[in-house]
Parts: sequence; structure tokens; C-alpha cells
Amino acid sequence: MLALGCDHGGYPLMKEVIQYLDEQKIAYKNFGTFSEESVDYPVYGKMVAKAVAEGECEQGILICGTGIGISITANKIKGIRAALCGDVFSAKATREHNDANILALGARVTGPGLALEIVKAFLETPFSNDERHVRRIRQIEAE
Ligand code: RB5
Repeated sequence: MLALGCDHGGYPLMKEVIQYLDEQKIAYKNFGTFSEESVDYPVYGKMVAKAVAEGECEQGILICGTGIGISITANKIKGIRAALCGDVFSAKATREHNDANILALGARVTGPGLALEIVKAFLETPFSNDERHVRRIRQIEAE
């Protein structure tokens, strides 16, 4: 199950992402927001990050205007590795190397065509499980 969250800046792109997920029959839980009325991105970033960190959802997608504020917020939650991606190479690499569990997108930065390619790459790429990457993720998580 995917957890979805966005602010008003991310809402137009989130509609496109949801259409893609519906077409692909990919299950999701949508934490909002549900319109372009101004809201605070940390509220949605935290809801999605907690759903992933607590195991309610395996992965998440977060969208705000730049993708920056909402990814900073998500990365405050222990166990979350949120990756802001603006290209397909990074989306693939962050799954293979960082086992990123949340994809962040910037709706005012990345057009919908590219954004959907990024979503596809993120969702379809498994973690490599290479020893060096497992070790580095453990180092991220260490106090
Ligand atoms: C909202 O105007 C905007 O600040 C937000 O969507 C995001 O870009 C913050 O990082």
C-alpha cells in the first residue's frame, strides 16, 4: 500500500499521479490535501511519513511546490528515507542504493510527463541489498 500526501502546491500533480496509480491498479491511501486551498505541507508530510514508519504503508509519495519542504519534514521521522527526485536516474538510484521509502516531487519544478516516469521508476526498482548499501543505511539510522 502506498501513502500519498501533498499540499496545495502539489495538488495538481497529485491528481495526475492518482490517475496513473488507478490505471496501474496500484493501491494507495490518500492523506490529502484534496484541493488547491492553501494548507501547511508539514501536516501532510508527517502523516505520510508516520504511516510508512509505523508500517501501515510500505512506501509513500509526497508532493509540494518544490518537493523540498515536504521532504525535509518527512526525513525528520525516524526510519524515513525520503528522496526528492527530479529525474529518472535519481529515482532508480535512490531505490537501489538508499532503499528510499518515500518519493518526493516538486509540482512547480517537474512537469507531469517526467514526474510520472519518475514515479514508475521509483515504484518498479527494488533495493539492491548490496552489503555496502545495507551498511550505509544502517549508518544513517544510527544515533
Ligand atoms: C507553498 O507555497 C510552498 O511553499 C510549498 O508547496 C513548498 O514548495 C515548500 O517547500
